[in-house]
Order: sequence, then C-alpha cells, then structure tokens
Amino acid sequence: MAKKSMLLATPSLVQGSVCEAQLLQAYSASFFPVVSNKCKACHVVGPGLGAFASPDINTSLASFRELGAARIKANAVNPNHKPPYTGSQNQPDIDAADAVWTAASSTYLTCLANSGDSELQMKTAEKAMEATAAVKILSWDLNSETAVGTQPQPVRFSIEVKVASVKVGTEMMSGYVFTNPKISVSQSGRKFAIDGFSIWVNGQLQEEITTYKNLKRVANIDEINLMPDTNTLLMRTPMTEDKIAIEFAGLQETNENDKPPEVIAPPAGGATPPINNAPLQTFRQLVAATGVIGKNCIACHNGTRTEAGLNLTNYTAAKGAVVVNKSADSLIVKRMLNSGNPMPPSGRLPSLDVDTVRKWIDSGAPEL
Ligand code: HEC
Ligand code: HEC
Repeated sequence: MAKKSMLLATPSLVQGSVCEAQLLQAYSASFFPVVSNKCKACHVVGPGLGAFASPDINTSLASFRELGAARIKANAVNPNHKPPYTGSQNQPDIDAADAVWTAASSTYLTCLANSGDSELQMKTAEKAMEATAAVKILSWDLNSETAVGTQPQPVRFSIEVKVASVKVGTEMMSGYVFTNPKISVSQSGRKFAIDGFSIWVNGQLQEEITTYKNLKRVANIDEINLMPDTNTLLMRTPMTEDKIAIEFAGLQETNENDKPPEVIAPPAGGATPPINNAPLQTFRQLVAATGVIGKNCIACHNGTRTEAGLNLTNYTAAKGAVVVNKSADSLIVKRMLNSGNPMPPSGRLPSLDVDTVRKWIDSGAPEL
C-alpha cells in the first residue's frame, strides 16, 4: 500500500517523463550521433525505411526504438547492407554506443518500475526468441524469470512461436506466428486472475497484437490454454538477436473461479460488430485443416463438391465471394452472419471465428 501513496505523491506521468528524459540524454550520447551521421543518406524520412537518421533527435529515437537496437546494430556493421556506409568499419562506434545505450536501457526500466507505473509491474524477463520455421515453446516461471520491478508470483506461462512467410499485396514478408498461450499456477490451492497479456520484442510493446488483450481467465494448478486454435501474426523481419518478454495485465491472486469464455452470437443480418480479438490470418491459414474455413466450410465448398459453385479451397475462386477490405460487403461474411440461412448451414460460428474471416478480408485478404 506504500506504493499507492507514492503513486499519488509522484504521478507516474511526471516520473515517467523523467525516465524518458534520461533515456533521451543517453541516446544523444550514444547511437544518435552515429546513425544520424552514417545512415543519413537513406534513413531520414520515415516511415517505410525508418527515420532513425533524422537530424531531429526525438524523431530519430522514436524510429530507433521502433526498429530496435538489435536491428540497427546488425545492419550498421553488415557489409552487405549498404556499403560503403555500413560494414565492419562501424564496429568500434557501434560498440561504444551500445555500451552506453545498454546501461541506459536498464536504468530506464528500473526508473519506470520505481515510478509506480503499474504497466511494468507484471512482466517476464526477456528471452531469446530463437524462432525457426519449426514450433518452439517459450516458457517462463514468474517466480524467478521476471523483469526488474515485477513482484515474483507462483505462475508459469508459455507460448509457442515460429517463423512464417506471408504475402502482403505483392510482397513476401516474414514474421512471427504465436499460438497456444498457456498459464498455470505452480502451487496447488492458489488461483490467479489474468485480464490479458501483451508481447514485447526488443524492449518494444508490439501494439499490433491485440489478440490477447481481453482474456479474463483464472488460472490454477491445471494448465489452461488461453486461446486455443488461434494464430497471431507479428509482421517483422525475424532477427537472431530478437528478444521477447510478456507483459501481463491484471495478474493477481483471486478467490474467483475460472469462467471460460462464452460464445457471443453476432447480431443478425448485415450488421457487423467491430473486430476485437481476432487474429490476422492468411488465406492459406484459414483453409488449412485447423483454420476457420478449413474446419467449417470446405467439406461442401471444394473442387469436387462445390455447393453454389463456390470452391473455397481456391484463392481466386474464394475471392469471388469477397470484397477486399470490405468484410461487411463480402458474401462469405454476410452468409456467416445470416441468422435465417447461415453458413455453415448447421448454424452460426462463434464470433471469434467470424471475426477471423472478417479481419482477413479487412487486411487486404492476403493469400500466403
Ligand atoms: C544507401 C541507402 C542506405 C543507407 C546509407 C543505409 N540504409 Fe538501411 N536500409 C536501406 C533500405 C533500402 C532498406 C530497406 C530494404 C533493405 O533491408 O535493404 C534499409 C533497411 C534498414 C533496416 C531495416 C531492416 C529490417 O530488418 O527491417 C535497418 C535497421 C537499417 N536499414 C539500418 C541501417 C543503418 C544502421 C544504417 C547506417 C549505419 C543504414 N541502414 C544505412 C537503405 C540504406
Ligand atoms: C454442409 C455443407 C455446407 C457447409 C459446411 C458450408 N456450406 Fe456454404 N453453401 C452450402 C449450400 C448447399 C449452399 C447453396 C444454398 C444456399 O445458398 O443456402 C451454400 C452457399 C454458400 C454461399 C452462397 C454462394 C452464392 O453464390 O450465393 C456462400 C458465400 C457460402 N455458402 C459460404 C460458406 C462458408 C463461408 C462456409 C463456412 C463458414 C460454408 N459455406 C459452409 C453448403 C455448405
């Protein structure tokens, strides 16, 4: 409770900006002079390439944090990136900058933790991602593997990660796919509530991942899967240096019992509710045996049995029933939401499944 009064006396916003100011100071004495000079031929105007070489230090730092120190360092000394600007000649400057920056980053986390900013109170330690095309399980014991400022708890958490390539428009991009987040309590008889969690990569909150924001579950000694059968895609070029941490929202001991999520039926007719927690999936993922369309549609809409002439196993054919970026106007979604004559004919699917299809359409309906 001492924490609370401290929080009132020193609003975290004020303390938080003190932490930010210290970090900015460290940046001006480390990476800023290096990148704003050596990379200015190309990295001044964002957002595509990153604006970390901007002469404006705030713009530069924002972009630097967005991309992450690991990528900046790797490209700066990579002779294949943009010689003669990049290569081993930059190593001494990068090493010197990195020493200052690494120390400042850890001071920054401690500073935030001391500021009473509850955002940082429940976070795992960072772990090397080391993801490949094969599924890897990352797990944490929150009794010991916690971030600075986090109170240890008898909670275990794991999530699966792998690297996958996805076609966005005409471009092939690679990223991380997360699945099967699981939680359990390591002491019998104790229960912990969890509102949700977010994923941090290289010290940056990955805001695009909203899938796990609103879970509201209670964990006990038996492990629960917080979101089965759901792939969550994070578009960013995987780097060997990438580190991951998990930040929990509302993780605290409770007497309540777990209430597994109810399936909320979407409103009838064309009215489409906002897309909340649906993962972004590609066509290939949706039609896979475990995907929403694969599980619920292709038994009747394939190349052999082609009800209503609609073959949902074929990308081009499926797109005939889709208005790209307009899920509410897309025949597939209209029929999935239609209460009188739904697809599948056996009855409407859970809203998360419908939202997963909608999100695919509203994200440009990527194929791979
Ligand atoms: C001559 C132009 C040019 C210069 C100079 C240059 N870059 Fe780049 N950089 C690019 C382009 C183009 C891309 C995007 C495509 C690619 O990765 O080649 C890029 C991409 C990047 C990325 C993003 C890679 C990713 O993983 O998404 C980073 C980080 C980066 N550069 C760092 C640097 C650093 C650090 C320097 C200076 C030491 C630098 N670059 C100098 C042109 C340049
Ligand atoms: C048990 C078989 C069956 C399943 C499973 C099934 N459908 Fe259908 N579907 C049909 C039949 C039969 C029709 C034609 C009659 C109708 O429109 O109601 C049809 C029609 C449609 C149409 C209308 C096509 C047009 O041109 O009018 C769409 C769109 C559609 N289905 C989408 C889906 C989607 C999406 C799924 C899965 C979420 C699905 N269907 C699952 C049997 C099925």
